[in-house]
Amino acid sequence: MTQYQELFRAFKMGSLELRNRLVMAPMTRHYSPNNIPDDQVAAYYGRRARGGIGMIITEGTCVGHRAANASENVPFMYGSNALAGWKAVVDEVHHGGAAIAAQLWHVGAVRSKGVAPYPQAPGIAPSGIEMPEGNDIHEMTTRDIEDVIEAFRRAAVDAKEIGFDAIEIHGAHGYLIDQFFWSQSNRREDRYGGSLLNRARFAAEIVSEIRRSVGIDFPIIFRWSQWKEQDLTTKLVESPTDLAVFLQPLVDAGVDMFHCSTHRYWEPEFDGSSLNLAGWTKKLTGKPTITVGSIGLGDKLHEDESELQRDVDRNLKNLVHRLKCDEFDLAAVGRPVIANPSWANIVKEGRYTDLLPYRKSLLNSLY
Ligand SMILES: Cc1cc2nc3c(=O)[nH]c(=O)nc-3n(C[C@H](O)[C@H](O)[C@H](O)COP(=O)(O)O)c2cc1C
Repeated sequence: MTQYQELFRAFKMGSLELRNRLVMAPMTRHYSPNNIPDDQVAAYYGRRARGGIGMIITEGTCVGHRAANASENVPFMYGSNALAGWKAVVDEVHHGGAAIAAQLWHVGAVRSKGVAPYPQAPGIAPSGIEMPEGNDIHEMTTRDIEDVIEAFRRAAVDAKEIGFDAIEIHGAHGYLIDQFFWSQSNRREDRYGGSLLNRARFAAEIVSEIRRSVGIDFPIIFRWSQWKEQDLTTKLVESPTDLAVFLQPLVDAGVDMFHCSTHRYWEPEFDGSSLNLAGWTKKLTGKPTITVGSIGLGDKLHEDESELQRDVDRNLKNLVHRLKCDEFDLAAVGRPVIANPSWANIVKEGRYTDLLPYRKSLLNSLY
């Protein structure tokens, strides 16, 4: 039996039952032609389900709004063909013994000019921004806000309908929802701008509309981060007090679980405590949390297998210790699961010499 038993304890939260604590982190691929996940996508996720992971969170899937995608070949969570494609993915993953959550995404201002299938649609954001490439960003009206909330609601309802076990709202990394959170990108003067509480309102309304439609039993996970693609070192909140103010409306709206995105899970979030972002979020809300960031990796990517094997043991001991202390509930693993579809089983069986290091070039032929 593995020395990391704690990682392989079952987890239950309402209707969500997982065989272990390991989650595949959401990772965008550009392998869905015409925005429809095909058999290869089902095979990709199925392989990872059979590889022992407890739950898969899909790559970001775009909600039904014309400006939701930044690039081509990313999958949609709307339209009968895309939904049929996702249904096949869900069945394949369930067959492999894992649960699956759909990550719902709108990129907001991060949209490139002329992207299919709506090349004329401008990017949207809480505040208008002039982009250097001439792709001006449209400041959202109240009507736009309502439309996007409805798009998220609809996508969640459809995801539930085709058998997903949960949805995850992508509120992280500087995309649309996070653009509302961040004072630098949200200069609105209405009830969606200004105080931290007002900046959280758009997200809270998305959550409560989804909750109203999916019922109390269907799990809503909310992913958020301090860092943004636009600024990796920025912090949305500087203290536990502000963190509590930020999270409370999301809890009140009906979030069941928070997924706290960090680069290195072992880094303390605030001075004076070793708790990481997931630790603080759990402590302040009482909700289960998912931690993420370089699990099974080191400070930098490994050059070869022997470096990886040296670090993985130390890294996972730290993770297990924190899980035992109840700092967080689940652990999401990203790049190692790209490199090793059976990462969870390999760790369970202690076969560290079978682990392959992650390399960026793997994204070019992601199977
Ligand atoms: C290729 C790639 C694509 C990603 N796409 C997404 C995404 O679609 N949605 C999201 O929330 N995070 C995305 N992320 C971030 C991951 O979910 C995860 O937080 C990050 O890789 C850190 O985990 P790791 O150190 O285990 O890889 C992506 C990361 C990578 C490497």
